[in-house]
This record gives sequence, structure tokens and C-alpha cells, in this order.
Amino acid sequence: MKNSVATFKEAKKNGEKLTMLTAYDYSTAKIMDECGVNSILVGDSLGMVMLGYEDTLSVTMDDMVHHTAAVSRGVKNALVVGDMPFLSYNTGIRDAVINAGRLMTEGRAHCVKLEGGKEVADVIKAIVEAKIPVCAHIGLTPQAINALGGFKVQGKNADSAKKIIEDAIAVQEAGAFAVVLECVPDALAEKISNMLDIPTIGIGAGVGCDGQVLVYQDMLGLYSDFTPKFVKKFSNVGDVMREGINSYIKEVKDGSFPEEKHSFKMDKSILEQL
Ligand code: KIV
Repeated sequence: MKNSVATFKEAKKNGEKLTMLTAYDYSTAKIMDECGVNSILVGDSLGMVMLGYEDTLSVTMDDMVHHTAAVSRGVKNALVVGDMPFLSYNTGIRDAVINAGRLMTEGRAHCVKLEGGKEVADVIKAIVEAKIPVCAHIGLTPQAINALGGFKVQGKNADSAKKIIEDAIAVQEAGAFAVVLECVPDALAEKISNMLDIPTIGIGAGVGCDGQVLVYQDMLGLYSDFTPKFVKKFSNVGDVMREGINSYIKEVKDGSFPEEKHSFKMDKSILEQL
């Protein structure tokens, strides 16, 4: 079934949980799409898990467009969300709309995601008015790590929890069709999910959210630099890869690969002419 922002609305109304995973390339997106995930987020987490940066701040619009387009080519049914990188939407409304537009026209995303609450409500409104659906992202917003003092759970005290509630209301009023809640206590996430008309997509925000998102390298055991508490490893693809790569090295070294069936033949008489 083809997913759209209407699917998100319907799921919230019917109490059906939404699934979202990140992907950054054609082949992975194709597998996820075939499995029936509702949505694929081309997250700026690509800076860390694909490009090896220590945070997401160095990711550019060109990086995001390039990877979003690759994912879009692999997807038939999932809703493709293109993530807006650091400073692509904070330097003015015009920049924000142009950059969101690039993710749609060049990246062929179906919608965009950006980080922030009340302070970016006017940006969300302008992008939505340009007919580009927006998924908001509040709580721990990794592009703000220098302002937040690191990757820390947000909303643990009353002031910070109230601010997250205000942010959730502000992004909904600005027209966001969904909101990612990252690293907030489960009870707060549940309260916000019950308050909002739009679906909440949790990452480190407990089971009370309307859906969940995970970075695929985390949930498949492909990224070992850092594993947050909220990650569950659903399989260990890293080990499967290691096994395959070790067998390849061994078989090339001992001459057992390639076999006859992997090789091409030519006419013996042609060989004799050479
Ligand atoms: O960039 C990303 O992958 C994200 C998710 C962690 C929600 O923003």
C-alpha cells in the first residue's frame, strides 16, 4: 500500500502504529520498501553512520539531495522523508523554502523533516504553505548538541518538559503532519502523543508514541562506534558481513574462488591466434 501524509493521519485516527527507518542508499531503501515499512527517513544521521563524522553538523544540502534521490529511486510505497541539514533552514524563510524544495524536486522526497520547536514554527508554516509537508523533530535535536551540551535525554525536569510540550503544540499549529520525539522520558512522550492530533514518531521516547523510528545501522548491528540505550539490535548484519568478507579473502587467497561457473569462456582457436 502506498504511504502518504494521509496514511499518517489515518493511522493516528485508527490507533495503528507507524514504522519509520532511516536509509541512505538505493539497495537498502528497496529492501525496506519491499518489507512494507511505512516511511523511510533519509536522516542527516548519514553524516555519522555513512560518512564517519562525529556529529551531523558537517552534512550539506548537496549530501542530503544526493542520498535522498538514491533512496527515492528504490522506493515504491514508503513515504520518503528528506532531512534538512544544519543551517539549511535557520538563515531565513526564503532559504528554508528553497532548500526544502530541493529535497522534493532533486531528491524526489515526499516531505521534509527539520529540527526545532517554537523557534522554527514560522519556518514550518512557510514550507507547508509552499505545499511541502513537514515532519517536525523535538526533544533531543542532534543539530543543537553544542547548545544542549551533548546527546542528553531532554524533558526530565518540569521546565524542560513544559518547553517540549509547548514545542509540540507549536509545530502542530504551524502545520507539521507528524513530529519526531527524540530522547524524552516515556511518560512525557505518551502525554504529548495523547494531546496531539498529529502522530508522534518516537526514538528513545517509549512505547506510548504513535510510531517508532530507528537508524538502520543501529538496529541491524552495523554501527558500533556508539549504541544509545534506546537501540534494540534486531539482527547482527555486521557479523554476517564479517563472515562473508572473511570467506571471500580466504577463497581468493587459496584459489578456490572464482570457480568454472563464475568464469567466461572463449573459443580455443581464437586463443591460438593471439
Ligand atoms: O537523522 C536522523 O536519522 C534522525 C532520526 C534519528 C530521527 O533525525
